[in-house]
Amino acid sequence: MRRALVPGTFDPITAGHLDVITRASQLFDEVIVGVAASRSKHPDGTMFTLEERVGFVEESVRGIANVLVRPFDNLLVTFADELGARVCVKGLRAVTDFEYEFQMAALNYRLAPQIETVFIMSTPDHMYLSSSIVKEMAFMGGDIHGLVPSCVEKALHDRVS
Ligand code: PNS
Repeated sequence: MRRALVPGTFDPITAGHLDVITRASQLFDEVIVGVAASRSKHPDGTMFTLEERVGFVEESVRGIANVLVRPFDNLLVTFADELGARVCVKGLRAVTDFEYEFQMAALNYRLAPQIETVFIMSTPDHMYLSSSIVKEMAFMGGDIHGLVPSCVEKALHDRVS
């Protein structure tokens, strides 16, 4: 059984995240999407609660049989070990992601060399997408249709109206 962990803050999940999760689900027997409670990258906190973020991911992956969703608040590598996942899959967009991901992969390797970090390149359609930019667009009245799953589109509209 090849089990992979796809971790993230998912505040909220975007079409880009969903693309990476879907492609990972085709490469591994089981994919667990780990939704981080941690706010290390987000000093101002998240827009959506952990429960809301988990709920959006669950609703978005409902049609994919081998994907499960779990929250976590410990080290990524500890969580991966607890799950029995030897692979951690991250999405990589433009070069802007590289330095941060390179640092995380190197430190995670130092902490737990048995866990392999694997990158899936974003498709050109999703290169420009991020949770932050989608939130900004929604707040300023931009059209976010197709950039996020429909449950997130509704939640963002409700939040800004
Ligand atoms: O979607 P994000 O915000 O890029 O995801 C970042 C995430 C959740 C993968 C990262 O913050 C993380 O791994 N958090 C768990 C805590 C941890 O292990 N930190 C040390 C990494 S070297």
